[in-house]
Amino acid sequence: MTEQLRLLGMGMAVPDKVMANEDFEKIVDTSDAWIRERTGIRERRFIGEGSLTELAAEASRKAIARAGIAPEEIGLVICATATPERAVPATACMLQKKLRIPAGTPAFDINAACTGFIYAMAAAQAMLPAIRGKYALLIGAEEVSKILDMADRGTCVLFGDGAGAAVAGVTGKPGTRVRIFADGDEEALSCGGYGGEDRHLRMDGRKVFRFAVSRLEGEIRALEEETGIPVSGIDYVICHQANARILDHVRRKFGLPEEKLYVNLDRYGNTSAASIPIALAEMAERRMLAPGKRAFAVGFGAGLTWGSCYLEF
Ligand code: ACO
Repeated sequence: MTEQLRLLGMGMAVPDKVMANEDFEKIVDTSDAWIRERTGIRERRFIGEGSLTELAAEASRKAIARAGIAPEEIGLVICATATPERAVPATACMLQKKLRIPAGTPAFDINAACTGFIYAMAAAQAMLPAIRGKYALLIGAEEVSKILDMADRGTCVLFGDGAGAAVAGVTGKPGTRVRIFADGDEEALSCGGYGGEDRHLRMDGRKVFRFAVSRLEGEIRALEEETGIPVSGIDYVICHQANARILDHVRRKFGLPEEKLYVNLDRYGNTSAASIPIALAEMAERRMLAPGKRAFAVGFGAGLTWGSCYLEF
């Protein structure tokens, strides 16, 4: 296939409410020192009384403005979320109305947990005929705080809420390549939801840690092979932000200099599907994604799911 997706404008939004590590010391038996040392997280944001769809709309408006397009030019809306505000309609449909994207435009949600944004890229890439001559709006938005068990210190300190969005166009040049996978492991990371016995997120931290490290490594090697570009020739590696020790492992394994591996989990924690698009939006804001820059993005999460993407700007 010669036609490829290309990200043209990015935006992000996080709630105002900051939850610092110290705030958790009052809720569970933990400490700022433990959380920083074992995870690298200093603070995260919680939506509280706010609305996830509104947050996703804010991120989307910024992405649309930065891409310099009009909402009428959007031909596809995909929202990656495991924690939608409502079961139906899809968050993407609610965004369609809020953003005045024309009726008739396909809009749907994807749940691939923390790999959601990579899955959204893959879906859009597979739906290029819907986008041709127009643009796709891809969003990752999560309110993980609402499925956290605030009595479980092993999970409640790790996650945060937020939204990231990107407008993608179609280009004739070879650019984006996307890889997505899942294995059906229900035990490592799960949440009952919808009236199930346990509506909270449960995680086998050590198992997920081992899985994350091996998948990140495997995906970077696979992208090197598929693109023919060694990671040393890539400008940035953007990994799902789950734990600083996981990121450190990747940095050491591939001998990456600090500035190549983007890290923001100290400020937002793990925002699941929003993590990669928030990182992209921050990088764009800092003018790191100038034309010609190349990045590997890699995600992993509940499902278990994992995937990766080669991006050219
Ligand atoms: N504060 C203080 N102590 C804690 C806390 C806490 N917040 N959480 C756990 N501990 C304790 C444990 O109870 C345990 O105590 P024990 O030895 O008395 O039993 C001790 O710390 C060590 O626990 P471990 O689980 O071995 O700690 P570890 O160093 O592995 O860190 C962590 C745990 C941070 C969860 C780590 O395993 C991890 O990051 N795993 C990957 C998680 C991840 O990536 N999740 C996101 C997946 S993406 C998605 O789809 C949602």
